[in-house]
Amino acid sequence: MKRSLESELAKRSDRVYGYIRSDRYQKRFFPEDVHDSVYLYLSGRQGKALRPAVMLFSCGAVGGDEEIAIPAAAAIEVFHTWTLVHDDIIDQDDRRRGGYAVHEEFRRRAVDRGYGDWDAVRYGTAIAILAGDVQQGWAVSMISELAERGVDLDVVLHLIRLVATDVTLTLLAGQALDVQYSKAPIESLDEDLIIEMMRRKTGALYEFAGKAGAMIGLNTKDEENELVHSISQFTGRCGTAFQLQDDILGVTGNAEKLGKPVGSDIREGKRTLIMYHALTNADEAQKRYLYGVLGNESASNEEVCEAVDIIRKLGSIEHTEALADRYVTEAREYIRNVPESRYKDLLLMWASYMIRRDF
Ligand code: IPE
Ligand code: IPE
Ligand code: MG
Ligand code: MG
Repeated sequence: MKRSLESELAKRSDRVYGYIRSDRYQKRFFPEDVHDSVYLYLSGRQGKALRPAVMLFSCGAVGGDEEIAIPAAAAIEVFHTWTLVHDDIIDQDDRRRGGYAVHEEFRRRAVDRGYGDWDAVRYGTAIAILAGDVQQGWAVSMISELAERGVDLDVVLHLIRLVATDVTLTLLAGQALDVQYSKAPIESLDEDLIIEMMRRKTGALYEFAGKAGAMIGLNTKDEENELVHSISQFTGRCGTAFQLQDDILGVTGNAEKLGKPVGSDIREGKRTLIMYHALTNADEAQKRYLYGVLGNESASNEEVCEAVDIIRKLGSIEHTEALADRYVTEAREYIRNVPESRYKDLLLMWASYMIRRDF
């Protein structure tokens, strides 16, 4: 069962990344540092491609032809990539997808060219901002290519509008709240506020993946269509659960396997659900220790490990796992009405994978 999902994911990933790497795009990006930064995570290294995969499964689940949806699947992966490039500047993380983050890679290149320390930081950041900007425009324009595959123009326009306004505004609001919450007193937050922030920063793009896949498959712009609604609710809820699992891996995972740092949420003071649970259940001594490490960028590895130990003892990981599980169980209910098919099986397997993954 697991192997069959993995090979189905790999097939879609190859197809989507092949599309993204096409020469007709590559030759447009200029100068060299813009080209190289835009492709740093898209060529050589690449992501798990879970968003394009679920978009294609959703298209198939409503009876559509996956091949028609390929430009939108490529678009959602490029769109997701720009959010990562900017997210690593925001979170001050210097590794992504098993190598340096864009801002760190180009800071290093600037040092090699003889820039002073501060100028190199500024150059790396400038290139990463620009790379993300280019990817954002490129992703939106890729959606228009659906029209060449027979998708009605009003459906294409609707999808472009959704990505460029609703999805972007929701995701960016989530990112803003993520940063604001890291400075907020824990008493001013609660689980619902934190989950809502996660729905915005991560769930919304997954919701769009399901929605767009179903709309393309049915060639409709009707978001209230029963199948479109069910599938988008399903993928959106699984997306929020995915962020819960991402936060667990950010504390207990293996940095090598993840390809990004572990413990940085703690050093950045992120109010993840795990941390909220720990701080609201800790005794005075545990609280004092956690606050000493939380948001302390110079905390040592030993201090972070000790904090993780406290978090584990308080049951905060189990609590978050149980919540992610509940989200996925509830999500499954939404697609009861989707006719049985191989694609529906893939959607259900994908849902489990979203919270069982270890990278
Ligand atoms: C990472 O997403 C950012 C989050 C929303 C948690 P992914 O885990 O899908 O990243 P890649 O694309 O596989 O690198
Ligand atoms: C995920 O942000 C959401 C977006 C990138 C929009 P995080 O900061 O939680 O994810 P990682 O852990 O850096 O991948
Ligand atoms: Mg972040
Ligand atoms: Mg981050």
